[in-house]
Amino acid sequence: MAKLLLSSGQVSVIFSAAIVFLFTLALFLSGYVLQQRYVHSLQAAIKPRLPKPLPVSKPIEPPTLDAKWARPVGGRPEVDGTIDQIIAGESLDWTRLGYVQVAKEFVELCSAVMLLADLHEMKSPARRILMFPKAWLATTEDDEEEYNPQMSTTRRLLRTAVRRYGATLVPMDTIVDGDDDSLASSYSLASLYSLTSYERLIYLHGPGVLLDASALDSLLAFSTSEPMAAFPATPERKDLSTSLLLIHPSRESFQQLKKTRSSAPMADLALFRQTFAAPESLISEWSLSMGNVVYESQKLRDAVEDFNATAFQETTTYVRLSDPEIPGPEYDVPYADRVQIRPKEDQAREAWERLYETFRQRRMEVCGLDLEPWMKPDEEGTDESQKEAQEEAVVGEL
Ligand SMILES: *[C@@H]1O[C@H](CO)[C@@H](O)[C@H](O)[C@H]1NC(C)=O
Repeated sequence: MAKLLLSSGQVSVIFSAAIVFLFTLALFLSGYVLQQRYVHSLQAAIKPRLPKPLPVSKPIEPPTLDAKWARPVGGRPEVDGTIDQIIAGESLDWTRLGYVQVAKEFVELCSAVMLLADLHEMKSPARRILMFPKAWLATTEDDEEEYNPQMSTTRRLLRTAVRRYGATLVPMDTIVDGDDDSLASSYSLASLYSLTSYERLIYLHGPGVLLDASALDSLLAFSTSEPMAAFPATPERKDLSTSLLLIHPSRESFQQLKKTRSSAPMADLALFRQTFAAPESLISEWSLSMGNVVYESQKLRDAVEDFNATAFQETTTYVRLSDPEIPGPEYDVPYADRVQIRPKEDQAREAWERLYETFRQRRMEVCGLDLEPWMKPDEEGTDESQKEAQEEAVVGEL
């Protein structure tokens, strides 16, 4: 009897051990399958050669759209479906709407990725596209022996854009066939018009800080498709600027721009002004009356006494960090020089410093990059004495 009880106890122990083993095996196998899938999608993501988007894994959430933006650019009442349908996200194909950034040279890449990162984190449902010179891909394999820190940072940032922020990489050709593909000036914003698989695209001129993506999402969603709807250069609406462009890419526009640009070298601003007449090609006044869609940091210096930093933050969509005395927010401007150019008014100064500080922190978070060193150029252009001073410092260290 005792023997029998014992063996049935043994049986149940063996039985439970078997069950535990089977469950463990099942867990291991499912984990293994998941891991393999993850590794495959990682491998796919790591290849910047393929300008293919990663399939978006999570379902697209309905956008936060402001009803106040629900009026088409140009005031024309021809939108697809009713405003209510659009707000519910029913009649919109977000795969055909997007934000595009263009890096023509290495120093612009981080700021471009940062803007796409902001859009990703603010949960914009539109696509994110990053254009960069095709020439950057040409040297990926042959130069393995020769370590090039700039190229390795570039590749790392392109991978980050795809992997972490779901961007689509689009390598671009020089705007004039046969131009030197190693020069930034051979590339043009006109290449935006080659992205004809998109219905509407918004381009923002970096570097800058995005404060509110929903206003821009609304602009994308509620606008009619026009070849060009640009942010005006001045309130008088006589010229367009390239601070913000809302475009409808088409083969015709692309060919026209390419032809004009081939006839004479010119900057993008001049090219666009020559091709698209103002005020017809400007964003409607109505859309701009909603707040500061684009604001330039240097304007904060004009702020008067009752400037309110909180209200500014709430009504502003995008701030382009541009102060003419310094090359950009990517540079570490010494405190004494910053004091000279920052706004005098208390609240405006607070807003200004917060923007530059936000940029600095985001640059580290997104790109893993510190600010670049910068030295104020001497007024009389005595570069020589500066160089000598630096050389002396180096010699001193040795
Ligand atoms: C600044 O604006 C915010 C929000 O618009 C408001 O709540 C606050 O009272 C304003 N502050 C001042 C000093 O006017």
